[in-house]
Amino acid sequence: MTTPLPISLFPFLLLIPAICFTICHANSNLLCIQSEREALLKFKNHLIDPSNRLSSWVEAYYNSRLGGKINPSLLELKHLSSLDFSNNDFSSIHIPKFFGLLQSLTYLNLSRAQFQGAIPHNLGNLSKLQYLDLRGNDLEPKSLQWVSGLSSLRYLDLSYVNLSEANDWIQVTFKLPSLLELHLSDCDLEDDPSLISANFTKSLVVLDLSFNRFSSVPKSVFSLHGLLSIDLRGYSLQGPIPDYFGNTSFLEVLDLSWNGLNSSIPNSLYSLNRLQFLSLGHNQLQGTISSAIGNLSSVTQLDLSVNQLNGQIPLSIGQLSSLEEFDASENQLNGQIPLSIGELSSLKLFDVSENQLNGQIPLSIGQLSSLEEFNVSENRLNGQIPLSIGELSSLKLFDVSENQLNGTFPLSFGRLESLETLDCEYNLLEGVVSETHFSNLTRLTTLKASHNRLRFEPNSSWIPTHFNFPQWLKFQKNLSYLDISYAGISDVMPTWFLNLPTQFESLDLSSNQLRGEISYLNVRNSVNLSSNRFRGPLPGVFPTLRFLILSNNSFSGSLFELVCNSFSGEFMEVLYIDKNLISGDIPDCWNDWPILDLLNLGSNNLTGKIPPSLWHLNLMMLNLRNNTMFGELPSTLQNPPDLIMFDISENHFSGSVPAWIGDKLSNLEILSLRSNNFDGHIPHKICDLQFLQNLDLAHNNISGVIPKCFYNLSAMATTKKTNNEISAGNVNYVNLEDPIYLNNVNAAPFYLKALLVMKGREDEYGSTLGLVTSMDLSANSLTGEIPKEIGSLIGLLSLNFSGNLLTGNIPDSIGKMELMESLDLSMNRLNGEIPPSFSNLNFLNHFNVSYNNLTGQIPTSTQLQSFENLSYVGNHLWGPPLTKNCTSKGSKVNWLYVSIVLGFVMGFWGVVAPLFFIRSWRHAYYRKLDHVGRKLYVSWATMGM
Ligand SMILES: *[C@@H]1O[C@H](CO)[C@@H](O)[C@H](O)[C@H]1NC(C)=O
Ligand SMILES: *[C@@H]1O[C@H](CO)[C@@H](O)[C@H](O)[C@H]1NC(C)=O
Ligand SMILES: *[C@@H]1O[C@H](CO)[C@@H](O)[C@H](O)[C@H]1NC(C)=O
Ligand SMILES: *[C@@H]1O[C@H](CO)[C@@H](O)[C@H](O)[C@H]1NC(C)=O
Ligand SMILES: *[C@@H]1O[C@H](CO)[C@@H](O)[C@H](O)[C@H]1NC(C)=O
Repeated sequence: MTTPLPISLFPFLLLIPAICFTICHANSNLLCIQSEREALLKFKNHLIDPSNRLSSWVEAYYNSRLGGKINPSLLELKHLSSLDFSNNDFSSIHIPKFFGLLQSLTYLNLSRAQFQGAIPHNLGNLSKLQYLDLRGNDLEPKSLQWVSGLSSLRYLDLSYVNLSEANDWIQVTFKLPSLLELHLSDCDLEDDPSLISANFTKSLVVLDLSFNRFSSVPKSVFSLHGLLSIDLRGYSLQGPIPDYFGNTSFLEVLDLSWNGLNSSIPNSLYSLNRLQFLSLGHNQLQGTISSAIGNLSSVTQLDLSVNQLNGQIPLSIGQLSSLEEFDASENQLNGQIPLSIGELSSLKLFDVSENQLNGQIPLSIGQLSSLEEFNVSENRLNGQIPLSIGELSSLKLFDVSENQLNGTFPLSFGRLESLETLDCEYNLLEGVVSETHFSNLTRLTTLKASHNRLRFEPNSSWIPTHFNFPQWLKFQKNLSYLDISYAGISDVMPTWFLNLPTQFESLDLSSNQLRGEISYLNVRNSVNLSSNRFRGPLPGVFPTLRFLILSNNSFSGSLFELVCNSFSGEFMEVLYIDKNLISGDIPDCWNDWPILDLLNLGSNNLTGKIPPSLWHLNLMMLNLRNNTMFGELPSTLQNPPDLIMFDISENHFSGSVPAWIGDKLSNLEILSLRSNNFDGHIPHKICDLQFLQNLDLAHNNISGVIPKCFYNLSAMATTKKTNNEISAGNVNYVNLEDPIYLNNVNAAPFYLKALLVMKGREDEYGSTLGLVTSMDLSANSLTGEIPKEIGSLIGLLSLNFSGNLLTGNIPDSIGKMELMESLDLSMNRLNGEIPPSFSNLNFLNHFNVSYNNLTGQIPTSTQLQSFENLSYVGNHLWGPPLTKNCTSKGSKVNWLYVSIVLGFVMGFWGVVAPLFFIRSWRHAYYRKLDHVGRKLYVSWATMGM
C-alpha cells in the first residue's frame, strides 16, 4: 500500500486504446470518424518523437520519450475519458490549460513527464475525474484551492510537487468527499500552524506524507478516523510519538521510520489490533517494549531497529501469531531471548543483533519451521547452540557471531539443507567440525567460523596445535565466500582444494600455518593468504582479482610472472607481498595495472632500481622498505602519484631528496627515506606537506640546516587529531555480494599500517597510526642551530635529531611541545643549558641529550629526574638525577645500546599513556575497539600482515 506505483514502461500507448475505445466503441472495424482522425494527426505532428514511436502507433520503449507541444486538437475527442502522458519529457512546457476542458476525463496521469511551473486552476473543473497523478513533475503551485472542485476524486498523487507555498493543502485535500488515497511524499510540506476544526473526509484510507519537513507528527492526521495506512517516513519528525492512536483503530500500516522521534512507544499504539505493518526503525525511541505488544495480534512485520530501546523482549511476543518479521537490531535490549518465540509459527526473520542480550539461545527455536533468517550477532549470549537448530528446514541465514557461545558445534547443522550463510565467528565454540556437518549443505555460500576453538578435521584425535585442513570442503559445491582465518590449521594445502570446480568470490585463509606451493588462485574478488608458510613461486591469479594479500609467507622467485602477465593487474587495487623472499628486480610492467592503489613489497630481497612504469601509477601507498634497491629518485615526475604513504627506507637509494616530494605529493602523511644513502639538503618544499605526520630521513648523508619553515607542517602543529587510523580513501573492501554485510561495508575503508621508529625501536602502528606524529632526522650531517620554530610543532610525540653536527643552544620553545614522549638530541655539539621549560614535558618517557657540550643544572620536574645518568652523560651538567655533581666526558657506555633497551621498556606504554589523558583521542581509540569485530570483518585484508 505504501509502495509507489510501478513505472509504466509503455506509457504513451495508454492514450491510444483509450481514444479508440471511447470514439469507436460501436464500430467493429475500428474506423474513427474523420474529424477525430485529423485531430489525432495534428496532435501527433506537434509532438517531438525522437525515435519515431508514433509512426505506426506501436509500442515503444521507455528511453525514447516524447516531448514537444500538446496540440489542443485533442479537444475534438469529445468522449476522451482517460489520458496518460506519464514518463515522457515535456520539460519545455506547462500543463496545457485546455486539459481543464476535457469534461469527460475520469483518469489523468501526467506523472514523471517533466511538466514545469504552475498547475492550471481549471483542472478543478474536471468534476468526473476519479484519478489524478501529477507525481514527479517540476511544479510549484501557490494554492491547491482548485482541487476542491474535483468532487469525484478518489486517488490523488502530488508527490515531489513543491507545495511549500500551498498552505491550504490540508484544508483542501482532507475535505475531498470521495478521496480514498492521498500521496504527498516529498512535497516540502511544513507544520500547519492553523489547526483546523473543519469536517474532514471520512473516506480517506491511504495517507502518504513521507519525506516532508514536519517537525512533529501532524495531529490532524488523527482526525481521519478511517485511515488504514499512514506513511510518515523521513528525516524530519522530532519529539514524541503522539498518544492518539486510539482514534485510528482501523490502521493496518504505520511507518514512522527514519525520523528523530525520541519518546517511548505510546500505549495507544499497542491497541491497534488490525495493524499488519509497523515500522518505528531508525529513530531515537527510548524506554522498554511493553508487554501490551501481545495485543498487536495482526502484525506481520515489526521493525524497531536502530533505536535506544532497553529492557527485555516481552514474553507476550509469543502471542503475535501472524508475525513474519521481527527486527529489533541495534538497540540496548537486555535479558534473555524469551522461550515464547517458539510459538511464532509464521516467523521468517528474527533479528536482534547488536543488543546486550544474554542467556542462552532458547531450545524452542527448533519450532520455528518457517524461519529463514536468524541473526543474534553482537550480543552476550552464552551456552550452547541448541541441537534443535537441526529442525529449521527453511533456514538460510544463521548468524551468531560475536557472542560467548561455547560447547561443540552441533552435528544437527548437517540437516539445514536450505542454509546459505553460517556465521559463528568470535565465539568460544570448540570441538571437531567435520565432513558430517556440511556434506548435505549444498546451498552454503558463506561460512565464517574463525576466532573459535574449532578443530577442522575428520578424525577425532585431539592435537591442539595441529588442526588439519577441513576435508569436508571437498563436498561443497556452492561455497563462494570462505573465511577460515585464525583457525589454527596446520597442514599442507591440499591440491584438491585449489582445483575445486567452483570459483570463490572471496577467500581468507590468513593466520594459519598452511604450507605448500600454490600455482593458481581461482578467486574472483579477494584473496588473503597472509601469515602462513606458503612457499615456492608466486601464484597466478584470476583476471578479475581486486585484492591479493600474500604478506608474511615464504614465497620466493621473481615478480616477473605475476606482474608482467597482462591479465593479472587489470582490476587489482591492492597488492601486498611484503615479508616474503621475493628476489630480483621489480619488473617494468606496471602499465597493465591501471587502478592499483596500494602496493607493498617491503621486506623482500628485491634489488635494482624503481622501474619507470611504477611512477606512472596513481598509487596511494608505495612501500618498498627493507630491500636492497638502489639508484636515484627521478628529478621530475610528470604525473605524480596520490601518495598518502611513501616508504622506501632501508635500501641503498642515493642522490638528493627531490623537491617534488614536497611539491607534488600534497596528500602525503607518512614519508620515510630512512637508512639509505641520500645526500644534499632537505628541500624546503617539504614544508608544504600539510598532512605530513611522520617524517623519517634518519641514517642518510643529508647535510645543511634544519629548515625554519618546518613550522608550516600543520598536521604536526596541532594537538587535535580526528582519526586514529589512516585510511586509504577510496579503496574500499566492498564485498557487494556478501549477503549479510551488504548494508555496512560501504563505509569500510582500507586501513594502512606503518613501521615507525620511535624511542629506539621499530613498531608497527595500525589502529593508532593516525594519532602518531614523529620527526626523525638522526644520524645525518645536519649543521647549524636547531630552529626555534620547531617549537610550533606541538603535536609531535617524538623528535629525534641525534647524531648530527648541530650547534648552539637548545631552543626554549621545545618545552612547549607538551605531548612529547620521546626527545633525543644526543651526539651533537649543542651548548648552553637545558631550558627550564623542559620541566613542562610531562609525558616524556624517553629522553637523551648525552654527548653534547651542555652545562648547568638539570631543571627539576618529575620527568627529567626519572631518567638515568645515561641520558645526560658526556656533558657538563649537574644536579639530580646525576649522582655526581658533574659527569665527566668519556664514559664507556654505548649510547645506542642504552637507548634501544630503554626504548624497549617504554615502547608500548609510550603510545598508550597519553591516550588516557587526551580525551578525544581516548574516545577515538576505544570506540574503534568497540567495533573491532565488525571492522576486522570488513577490512580483513589488513589483518595479520
Ligand atoms: C460539520 O458538519 C456538520 C454536519 O455534518 C455541520 O453542522 C457543521 O457546521 C460542520 N462544521 C464545519 C466546521 O464545517
Ligand atoms: C559454557 O558457559 C557457561 C556459562 O557461560 C558455563 O556454565 C558452561 O560450563 C560452559 N560450558 C562449556 C562446555 O564450557
Ligand atoms: C544427509 O542427508 C542424508 C540423506 O537425506 C541423511 O541420511 C544424512 O543423515 C544427512 N546427514 C546429516 C549429517 O544430517
Ligand atoms: C628485513 O627483511 C629481512 C628479509 O629480507 C627480514 O629478515 C628482516 O626481519 C626485515 N627487517 C625488518 C626490520 O623488517
Ligand atoms: C637475495 O638475493 C641474492 C641474489 O640477488 C641471493 O644471493 C641471496 O641468497 C638472496 N637472499 C635470500 C635471503 O634469499
